[in-house]
Amino acid sequence: MASDPKLMEKIVSLAKRRGFIFPGSEIYGGLAGTWDYGPLGAELKFNFKQAWWKYMVSERENIFGINASILMHPKVWEASGHTAAFTDPLVECKICNERIRADQEEEIRSHNEFHETKKEKAEWTEPKKFNLLVEAKLGAVEETKTNVYLRGEITQGAHVNFKNILDSVHPKIPFGVAQIGKAFRNEITPGNFTFRLREFEQMELQYYVRPDEKEAEGAFDMWKEERRNWYISLGINKDKLRFREHASGEKAHYAQKACDIEYKTPFGWKEAEGIHHRGDWDLSRHAKFSGQDLSYFDSETNERYIPWVIETSCGVERPLLYFLLDAYHEDEERVVLRIHPKLAPYKMAVFPLVRNKPDLVEKAQNIYRDLRKNFMVAWDDRGNIGKRYFSQDEIGTPWCVTADYQTLEDDTVTVRDRDTMKQERVLVKELEIYFRDKLK
Ligand code: GAP
Repeated sequence: MASDPKLMEKIVSLAKRRGFIFPGSEIYGGLAGTWDYGPLGAELKFNFKQAWWKYMVSERENIFGINASILMHPKVWEASGHTAAFTDPLVECKICNERIRADQEEEIRSHNEFHETKKEKAEWTEPKKFNLLVEAKLGAVEETKTNVYLRGEITQGAHVNFKNILDSVHPKIPFGVAQIGKAFRNEITPGNFTFRLREFEQMELQYYVRPDEKEAEGAFDMWKEERRNWYISLGINKDKLRFREHASGEKAHYAQKACDIEYKTPFGWKEAEGIHHRGDWDLSRHAKFSGQDLSYFDSETNERYIPWVIETSCGVERPLLYFLLDAYHEDEERVVLRIHPKLAPYKMAVFPLVRNKPDLVEKAQNIYRDLRKNFMVAWDDRGNIGKRYFSQDEIGTPWCVTADYQTLEDDTVTVRDRDTMKQERVLVKELEIYFRDKLK
């Protein structure tokens, strides 16, 4: 469907209509760069984060999860270099003062065209840098309020807790600290739906290795592959994924080396996640600014050193948009969201074949209630069965369970598969195990 010029429009419309994603503060005219996740979107996001956590933390012995504060001491951001360097070069239109990131050629071109329609010629300033950190004020009394920042990346929560991690769980190098949480950026040009936001979530791993180029290179390459495989394991089309190494002038201030995993969107190849070789940048800066010893004692080599960091930094909303784009399909008669069952908001829907037979409706209700104990399940008894199937296909529900006349005789139901549309009969008492098996 990537060649469909209306794909983005269709996704935005489906997302709103079916309760995935709504514009932030919509009744007040919206707030640029913010989107709210509705009942289905919240489930989708939760499943996405859970899949990441399982793959990155629960299934690995040497990765430890944390949950750090959004608000941090302002010195954190001085130490991390974000107050000085977390800037985007922008150009400003001399006619209307619109500011656009200097690297957004497409947006600059369309702005030029906008002025041309008014018989004007846009002129641009030289690129200037603007800080992306979002400021906030902390404290109840006006006179004593402190300026703080909402974290611009979730990363620093791991590094400022490095000593606490060492002292509490005594990890052996190499080990990682993982986290999921909100980040905030004063993006100058938010847009493309949930692609560039001002408030978003990140899922990150900070992986500490010996300060040795070979070790770091090995970890960098290993994580690149692991991360790419994760997207593929969740069903994304692997031909639409690629690695892109950053050129030297493009790297963030903390990165010695950077590689993006990109997805082919309808608006070009775009970053889904970044893998960064951060060296000892964070720990040595925090050691310097805090005056604390943030070194690690390696009992295998009898050395004390500041470890190096390989980071994998994945957004939540942005890659999820790619998953939606990738999953959207139109058949002649239906729209189907072929999202991986692990991500699907509802795993199954339960219907009574007809509404006017109370014993059948009751049977279906009992099946629905039983399945709900273990899975996220939808109930639908509106319209005809065909319409109900299509309605579930559009939101990506992998299986539909229908209680029909035969159910009352032999306690079996039909289970219809979203992708193949094939149906099979399954004993009601075996439904739970049947679905557990499918979701493995
Ligand atoms: N700690 C490193 C770091 O934050 P980044 O490349 O700036 O690296 C990592 O961000 C990921 O976070 C991106 O690949 C993207 O998925 C997500 N992300 C970054 N800025 C975003 C924004 N403004 N809106 C939505 N997602 C964003």
